[in-house]
Amino acid sequence: MKILFYDTKCYDRESFTRELEQYPDIEVKFLKADLTRNTAELAHGYDAVCAFVNSEIWTETVETLHQNGIRLILMRCAGFNNVDLDTVHRLGIRILRVPGYSPEAVAEHAMGLALTVNRKLHKSYLKVRENDFSLGSLMGFNFYQKTAGIIGTGKIGAAMVRICHGFGMKVIAHDVYENPSLKGIAEYVSLEKLLAESDLVSLHCPLMDNTYHIINRKTIQMMKDGVILVNTSRGALVDTDDLIEGIRAHKFFGVGLDVYEEEAPNVFEDRSDEILEHSVTARLLSFPNVMITSHQGFFTREALSAIARTTLENVRTFESGQESPNDVKPEK
Ligand code: NAI
Repeated sequence: MKILFYDTKCYDRESFTRELEQYPDIEVKFLKADLTRNTAELAHGYDAVCAFVNSEIWTETVETLHQNGIRLILMRCAGFNNVDLDTVHRLGIRILRVPGYSPEAVAEHAMGLALTVNRKLHKSYLKVRENDFSLGSLMGFNFYQKTAGIIGTGKIGAAMVRICHGFGMKVIAHDVYENPSLKGIAEYVSLEKLLAESDLVSLHCPLMDNTYHIINRKTIQMMKDGVILVNTSRGALVDTDDLIEGIRAHKFFGVGLDVYEEEAPNVFEDRSDEILEHSVTARLLSFPNVMITSHQGFFTREALSAIARTTLENVRTFESGQESPNDVKPEK
């Protein structure tokens, strides 16, 4: 089996090369270029392609892959909103993904963001480097015995519930389904009650029509004054303009964002030499109580190994002809 990997960074090449020792029959080539309609024909002579979250796997790309003999698309991520699934299935190409790799990686990052903006670690780091050892503006508050509100208690949200519980917090949660594994640790409440009672609100639901801008002017007003908001899920869960309005109105003690609406051109790119015009990100970064990270919640050694292992196991599944829960099925 010959696989062409698109959009690879050094850490992808390292994690896959390590795991590939267990799969001597798989031959790979790593490309830096992403998969688009222009780069699809590079797949000529390969059996499969491996792509990532920003690849553009639209109709023409899929048709070119098919014309070049590709029978399998391996998504080394959970999402597939960048794929024209109808064309993939119409042309008889199989597509497999990695639905979950390390929920704890994302949940630990969410707590890292919450702690950073609470205890002002981002400011403290810079102050001490300048030999400023004063404590002015660094005061935080104890999470112990405060209330954490977790929106979405699937794999990552449940891990966050357990972390907050470990901090001695009272944990309340909101989800369309209750997660039985959280019985006795979290109490399910309405969204309104969660927003009104939480000192820390952390978002872990997927982006869908009914969760788009779930955090907006109205829901921000429902929150406690001095709340900490953390988003490690998807940028568009939060209406950025309304968030900025809330920050200016001193609603938030702190805001930690691993994802934000405008992130697409930034994700995993070094843009330090560019002048970013009309940037909402720059406006967010101008606030002293906001911490932004670069969609790195998933980025741990364990998660990268799990992604590589599952992707290569997906190749095995394909070769065996068996069905898999990792198959991306056509939408009904
Ligand atoms: P999951 O599917 O296990 O859990 C999502 C939960 O949200 C489910 O329990 C679902 O019932 C719930 N939900 C659906 N609609 C809801 C609503 N209207 N209100 C409240 N809850 C609702 O997903 P998982 O693995 O926990 O991932 C959560 C999100 O984390 C993903 O959708 C993804 O956007 C994000 N993510 C972020 C990463 C990062 O690097 N920052 C990495 C991986 C995922």
